[in-house]
Amino acid sequence: MSERPEDLRAVRPDSAPQQHDGAAGPSAPERSQWRIRSFSLRGSRLGARHEETVARHPELFVPLAPGPQATTVALDARCDLGQVFGRQAPLAVEIGPGSGEHGVSFAQRHPEYNVLLVEAWAPGAARCVASILRAGVTNVRVLEADAAQALPVLFGLECAGLVRGEDVTACGPARSATHPNAANPRAEQVWTFFPDPWRKARHHKRRLVAAPFATVVAGMLREGGTWRLATDWDNYAWQMRDVVETSPYFTNPHAGERPDPADPTPERGGFAPRWEERVLTRFEERGIAAGRTIHDILAVRA
Ligand SMILES: C[S@@+](CC[C@H](N)C(=O)[O-])C[C@H]1O[C@@H](n2cnc3c(N)ncnc32)[C@H](O)[C@@H]1O
Repeated sequence: MSERPEDLRAVRPDSAPQQHDGAAGPSAPERSQWRIRSFSLRGSRLGARHEETVARHPELFVPLAPGPQATTVALDARCDLGQVFGRQAPLAVEIGPGSGEHGVSFAQRHPEYNVLLVEAWAPGAARCVASILRAGVTNVRVLEADAAQALPVLFGLECAGLVRGEDVTACGPARSATHPNAANPRAEQVWTFFPDPWRKARHHKRRLVAAPFATVVAGMLREGGTWRLATDWDNYAWQMRDVVETSPYFTNPHAGERPDPADPTPERGGFAPRWEERVLTRFEERGIAAGRTIHDILAVRA
């Protein structure tokens, strides 16, 4: 893996010392430096086939210099998105694309877009590359990193490098006056579909869709741009709706619509119709098969 362009990707979990929650070893960072991980690194070793696919296609990855921890990028990593895609075009960013079914299918149907897939789990990123190659699309790139840490760097936000959620939210969506990546174009669309639900109450703090991440997404989006979310877990749907409606940076065009009797505030609603462009993935299928309700949420950058 060394000395090849793909080393510029964020450190791959299988090539870096792994830090598990609760781990304490000489290479473990200070606890205060740890981020809330909204993903699991379990099973992140690549098989030979994926290893080879990834090694052959460094051009499909966003070349951000790796940071000190697995899945992080260096705070001063420079990246010109126009150069990465080889053109200027409207940008859509999918966070947690899994195998990339939705993002790649959208890119195929919308060649006018640049589509960026941000996936923290190495086998997921490798599957995204495989999907891109299968579809033969040229307008998709993969960033293999923790979106919460890497996107503030990629878009040159002031909050880049801040670890505590309170600090990120206090900082707001402002661009850094000095970071070169602040010149990267803002996204038209951001998608977060079926993020890991972290079902147990004590794990809810690991959910990605929370106020600090909404602030980061606000920093990435152009005014009027949209953030689309979907989940098959009721109480994550209420949380997403609440995050959007309490954020000073978003409005919910479906406020009050589609109230759900299972909601603790059953009159409240706030859910969007299913987005017709969203591709049905196994996560949605699994939720439907288990009898769960799928909720879509649409947030518009104010
Ligand atoms: C449950 S899967 C859903 C995949 C896909 N969106 C779908 O609907 O089929 C969630 C994905 O989000 C990724 N993920 C979770 N937190 C992330 C983060 N902070 N940055 C990047 N990817 C993340 C996980 O690795 C996983 O691939």
